Parts: sequence; C-alpha cells; structure tokens
Amino acid sequence: MSRRILVAVAWPYASGSRHLGHFAGAYLPPDIFARYHRLVGNDVLMVSGSDANGTPITVRADEEGVTPQEIVDRYHPEFLEYWDKLGISFDLFTSTMTENHHRVTQDFFSTLLNNGYIEKGSSNQFFDPEAERFLPDRYVEGTCPHCGYEDARGDQCDNCGRTLDPTDLIKPRSKISGATPVERETEHYFLDLPALAPQLREWLETKTDWRKHVRNFAIGMTEDMPKRSITRDLEWGVDLPNDELGPGKKIYVWFDAVIGYLSASIEWASNTDDPDAWEKWWKDPEAESYYFVGKDNVPFHAVIWPAMLIGHGGLNLPSELPANQYLTFKGEKASASRGVGRSIAWYADRIQPDAIRYAIGSVLPEQNDTDFSDAELMRRVNEELVATWGNLVNRVLSMSDRNFDGRVPEPGALTAEDQAIVDLGQKTLDAVAKRIEATELKAGLRAGMEAAGEVNAYLNATEPWKAVKQDPERGGTILWAAIQAIAAIRVALYPYLPFSAAEIGQMLGVGPAVESWAAPHIEGGTQLGDVRPVFTKLEDDSLAD
Ligand code: MF3
Ligand code: ZN
Repeated sequence: MSRRILVAVAWPYASGSRHLGHFAGAYLPPDIFARYHRLVGNDVLMVSGSDANGTPITVRADEEGVTPQEIVDRYHPEFLEYWDKLGISFDLFTSTMTENHHRVTQDFFSTLLNNGYIEKGSSNQFFDPEAERFLPDRYVEGTCPHCGYEDARGDQCDNCGRTLDPTDLIKPRSKISGATPVERETEHYFLDLPALAPQLREWLETKTDWRKHVRNFAIGMTEDMPKRSITRDLEWGVDLPNDELGPGKKIYVWFDAVIGYLSASIEWASNTDDPDAWEKWWKDPEAESYYFVGKDNVPFHAVIWPAMLIGHGGLNLPSELPANQYLTFKGEKASASRGVGRSIAWYADRIQPDAIRYAIGSVLPEQNDTDFSDAELMRRVNEELVATWGNLVNRVLSMSDRNFDGRVPEPGALTAEDQAIVDLGQKTLDAVAKRIEATELKAGLRAGMEAAGEVNAYLNATEPWKAVKQDPERGGTILWAAIQAIAAIRVALYPYLPFSAAEIGQMLGVGPAVESWAAPHIEGGTQLGDVRPVFTKLEDDSLAD
C-alpha cells in the first residue's frame, strides 16, 4: 500500500540570495526525504515557492529604490536555477504572487471569518513621524523584551526565536528614518488564537515523537497566546476579501505564506488531468504531511498554521515538523543580510552538486546548532566523499574494467566473507531507510558511508589487486561481490547524492536511473560503462574567491 506524503518546504523570501544555512535547514532535508519516498513507491507531493510578500521584500525594495516586484523578479528565477543545479526536486516551486495563491488565501480568510475565528479590532501600531507612514514588522528594530538582543526585528527576534509585535520592542527605531516611532491607532483583523488554544494544545500533546526543541517551543508558546493581527498597513501583499478596513491594508505575510502549502498543492493539481488531486494529500486523514523548516519558522508551523487549520476545518494538520536548528559560521548564525556565510548560488557555481549535498548532509543541524566552514566542507568532501565512496567505486570498477575486459567479472564460489559483503547491500538499504523514515537524515548518510567503509576494509583484507594476477577467478569473485555492494550502496545514497548515482549507474552498466529501493543483482558479464572518477577533489583554491 503506497502512502501519500506531502513534503512541505518553507517558502524562501525572494528578498535576496539564500545561504548555505537555509540549504541545510530547509531545502536539502526535504529533497532527501522526498527522493527516498518516491523510490519506495510512495505518492509524494513536494511543494514550495518564493515568499514574495511582506516587509522583507518591501524593506529591500525601499532600500534600493525599486519596486517589490523587481526584487521578486530578480530572486525567484535565481532560486529556480539553483534548485535545478543542486537537484532539489520540487513537484512545484511557485510563488505567492500567483492569482491562485491570492484567491486561496482570501477564501481561507473568509472561512475563518465565517467560523468566528477572525475579528476586527483596533490597536496601536508604530508610525514614523518623519516618513509619515505606518511601520509594520521589519520596518522597526529594537531590543527584544524576552532576551535583550539589541537587533531584534519587529516581527521576530533572531536570537531567541520568539514572535514579536513591533510595539513589544524596547528602544524601537524606524528602519526608514531612524526616528523613534510613535503609536497611532489603526484598525486590523485579528486571529483569535486564545479561542483555538485548547484544541491546539490537545493536538500538540499528541506529538510526542517531534524533536524536543520543536515541541517544547510550541507548547511554551500556547501558554501565553494573545490574539494576533493578521493584516498590515502596507501597499504590497494579498488584498483582504472585503473592504471593511478601507484602503492601504493587506493580509499579513505569514498568514498568506503558510497557506502557500495548500495553494501550491491546488496549483500543482490544476496542471494535471485531475484538478482535485490535491485533496488526496489534504483531506484524506490517512495522508501524511512533513513540514521542513528552520528553527525561526517553528512558531508559525507548530502553532499559527495548525491553529488556522483547526479554525478552518476539513484539512489535515501537519503530521511531522522536522525543524532544524541553525548552521553557524564561526559561531554566528548565517545571515544573508548581515553577510555571514555565502550564498547557495556561490557554492553551486564552484562545486559539484553532490559534493555540496554530501558536506551539508553530513552536518545537518537536526538537534543542535552546528558550526560549519569552508575548511570543514573541504575536509568532508576530500577525506570522506572522495576518499571513501569515490575511491571505492573507482578502484573496483577500474580493476574490473582492466582485468575482465570491461565487464563485471563472473563469480566463483563465495566465501562467508564474500557473502557478507553481498548481504551488506540489503542491510544498508534497511538501515538507511529506517533513519530517513525517522527524519534522522544525517544518520542515514552516515549509515551509507559506513557501508562503503566496510567494503573498503573487505578489499584491503582480500587484496583483489593481487588476486587478479595470481588467481583470476578468486580476484573476479571478490570484485563481483564488491560490485553487488556498490550497486546497493549507490541506491542507498541516491537520496543524498542523486547526480553521482546516475553516473555510477552508467559505469555499472545499469543506466542512470535508480528505479526502486532495492539491492540490484548485477550479473557477471555485464558490460561496464566508461569508468572514471566520479568526484573531484577540492583544491585549496577551489573555494578562493
Ligand atoms: N519566508 C519565510 C522565511 O524565509 C518562510 C515562510 S515558510 C511558509 O523565514 F511557507 F510558511 F511561508
Ligand atoms: Zn529575543
């Protein structure tokens, strides 16, 4: 029975190039997960898109003196380009600027309004007396009232992760003029989180398998949950479904962005021959959904989005929220705007995609913040990927190529040792599967690499390079056994290293595609492809600017 799995990927703000921290936190993990599940035969729908609304975009546009649209038009294509280069296999990567998204958001808003979970109210918002305009979200910076971090933004504190209202900030300052903002009354719509809190808490209590840092944060947040405004004094964003607030108001970016998972699923289905197909992932209670996000997105996915879904009714809540902590550089959180850590595009232009995927896959910050550097990247690539896996594939296939006329050798009788190496294939697939199913992706990669290490140890013990000279049948048997293991490890590593899996498939003579999550049997006599090193060792200047 195939499972239906929605792989929901955080929508990157189209306000600048995303960096390696984002790649580790939110983009590589869902791709590994989705590729595995497709191979197992499950029905995967993996969606995301450019987050085109909100103050991250408008602040950037204001700074450059261009329109928000121009900003989005610059970064959306860039995102598409590096997803492609790095093999992030979305079924759809759209944007929040589509008509479909605007309509789905407005319908969602209307449903919550009709169900009584959205209400109008007036509140005091910050206003810039010099620029004469309201200052929503990131137009204000100041000191976080919870942790004292001095550069907290009006929507959220980057240091402690708490969501904020600009008026919560201590010593607030306008990002536009630097002036101290004044409060002014304005009308908005509010999401009635207190009314949804009991159901929300009950649901969260059932999520005992979630990562501890995620669940603790979420439960903590429900303990003190005021109503949250879901509209803003802005000119850019999704229009409200009614005119009751008058002009100059838009829907709050986080309200529309999380609805993107749903609208993108609907858009995806509308391009197939079954426009209702999205319902299989959203309405059938058996369907599963995994939301891949970074730590700063936890409040919105563990609390706000589930609350919206509960208030809406009829749609599945997240099954899993495998949120990651941060990848740090010299102890600092990577930040595109603060210039810490380089962009995904920068690396994708210089290094083989699987080398990036390998290095990042082996340091995924699943439980803790994890420090990373270019030196670490080089070490992972050269000393692990090239030395262990690349070298194994290369030496086994070259020896077979040279000594057995470009073919997989025919095996003779197997020793217990040989048989153990053949059996290692299925064992590795099982071990990696177990880890990926549990979203312990880093451990899955390690299990695959350990198997490669075992095959290397087997070769060192059996010395086929001597055997092929002294006892060709014995030499051929060893190589045949090693090839069986390599063929299975190639499948096990495919979710992590899809590009090299295709190349290795060609060298093995089985073609580039990996068809299923099973240990293939490679017949003796199979014609090998063109055997060459798969991975390139990084040199000291590979990462020089
Ligand atoms: N744009 C947000 C960020 O970069 C993430 C939005 S995830 C969403 O932090 F899907 F919920 F929108
Ligand atoms: Zn804080």
